[in-house]
Amino acid sequence: MVLYFTGTGNSRHIAERIAHALNDTLISLNDRIKSGDITPLAVNGRLVLVMPTYAWRIPRIVRDHLLRTELRGARETWFVMDCGSEIGNAAKYNRALCRKKGLVYMGTAQIVMPENFIAMFNAPTVEEARRIVAKAEPFIDRAIAAIRAGHMFSPPHKKLYDRIASSAVNPVFYPLFVKANSFTASDVCIGCGKCEKLCPLNNITLQNARPVWGTNCTQCMACICYCPTRAIEYGKKSAGKPRYHFEEL
Ligand SMILES: Cc1cc2nc3c(=O)[nH]c(=O)nc-3n(C[C@H](O)[C@H](O)[C@H](O)COP(=O)(O)O)c2cc1C
Ligand code: SF4
Ligand code: SF4
Repeated sequence: MVLYFTGTGNSRHIAERIAHALNDTLISLNDRIKSGDITPLAVNGRLVLVMPTYAWRIPRIVRDHLLRTELRGARETWFVMDCGSEIGNAAKYNRALCRKKGLVYMGTAQIVMPENFIAMFNAPTVEEARRIVAKAEPFIDRAIAAIRAGHMFSPPHKKLYDRIASSAVNPVFYPLFVKANSFTASDVCIGCGKCEKLCPLNNITLQNARPVWGTNCTQCMACICYCPTRAIEYGKKSAGKPRYHFEEL
């Protein structure tokens, strides 16, 4: 079984590639998280978890969902983490999660994909993003080959910087930056409701045909990056930056 979470489509693309190549079942954690579905999943064997990197670890929202969900019959578990540049020492925490869940840890693969975190950094243009994805495809193939053969992913060489990023910066990042309080929608909003529909945490409601953000946000960037009229900004940080989502490539 292949489970994925995504904000802007990168992880969905990778998960679809893996599920298709392995002829395996593909399940969206976005749908399960959005609907509050924590019913057991009948995995029965191999499990592949695909998701973006948030602050050098898997997204907390995904970790919490996995901790609350019974993964029936799951054994060997591979993590595939896409990122804008690096996953840090995420592998250590993925191994610990497996221990907690009684899963056999088979490693963590890093796949560099287009950056989507426009509340802090820049996203690439469509042409740049296409080049980044083309470079990523052979790494996705390599991950598929390892999973198919039942091999562990090769352990990454991690430096002190990676360990500090995942251990010390990650816990500070969440309270400081993972908030929805700077989102606004301008007059070009057409009230289409796409942001409300896409938010995996149901943090957006349309009031008088305009989005209103609550406080439960994981900064997945779906609302701001998929808005068809580019009506959404994140304070001044997103101003003038390209919006990114995989399907546009
Ligand atoms: C809140 C947030 C935190 C992020 N943290 C990292 C990070 O620590 N390292 C990194 O290389 N990329 C980071 N990124 C970039 C994403 O991991 C990357 O663009 C990913 O491919 C997006 O996947 P998606 O399209 O499936 O959401 C972050 C993005 C967001 C939105
Ligand atoms: S997706 Fe954009 S246009 Fe549609 S309701 Fe949300 S802000 Fe408005
Ligand atoms: S409010 Fe926007 S950024 Fe926050 S979780 Fe919802 S869709 Fe993602």
